[in-house]
Amino acid sequence: MDGNGRWATNRGLPRTAGHSAGSETFRRISRYCRDIGVEYFTVYAFSTENWKRSHEEVEAILKLLDKYLREAIDTMEQERMKLVLLGDLSRLSPQLRALADRALEVGRNVQGMQVNVCFNYGGRDEILRAAKRYAEDYAAGKADADLDEAGFSAYLDSAGIPDPDIIIRSGGEQRTSNFLLWQSAYAEYWFTDTLWPDFGPAEIDAAIAAFGSRDRRFGGVKEAGKG
Ligand code: IPE
Ligand code: MG
Repeated sequence: MDGNGRWATNRGLPRTAGHSAGSETFRRISRYCRDIGVEYFTVYAFSTENWKRSHEEVEAILKLLDKYLREAIDTMEQERMKLVLLGDLSRLSPQLRALADRALEVGRNVQGMQVNVCFNYGGRDEILRAAKRYAEDYAAGKADADLDEAGFSAYLDSAGIPDPDIIIRSGGEQRTSNFLLWQSAYAEYWFTDTLWPDFGPAEIDAAIAAFGSRDRRFGGVKEAGKG
């Protein structure tokens, strides 16, 4: 969800106003994805590197997370969306962690699209934390030496969540910035210059249309006369 800061600066507003606007876009786009039948919708809200920003900006983003978690806990059932946070939550306040736990609990009984919010998330950090957990289990005799890909995936924050089909980046940059490094091995990327607060359903439709026209071989070869 890139481009909030530039959106605000272009309007002579503080960057934090961009994050508020971006959080509204997040609400709108989550509902749209649910309505068109998406099963998992994952957003990159705050990276392990984003703590480098000003105290004021970080506080504003944490406040938005608090607000969104409370709202989600109250409305998940009627909205048919369940919320899961991915990332290293140990750096969040006890209050935010309790809200995240509560959301997870409420979400267990909700039928509908799963919304994964990556917060204090970094792909390398996730892989490293998974490797440490595996090493602990191994040392404790609880894991085999011949670890395979599926076995390792179970240690990631995304355990049990299918790999993404499409990764969309708004805001004009064409890089992955440490997002879902392991899970994105065969994802199709779609980039747009649109700044996140201006992002709309038409962009989701365009990304899905592009995805439909791509030839996904997963390293194999297309069979003659097919597709
Ligand atoms: C939002 O966009 C992404 C977050 C880290 C919350 P940015 O805040 O990176 O916006 P730009 O790139 O400065 O425009
Ligand atoms: Mg940015």
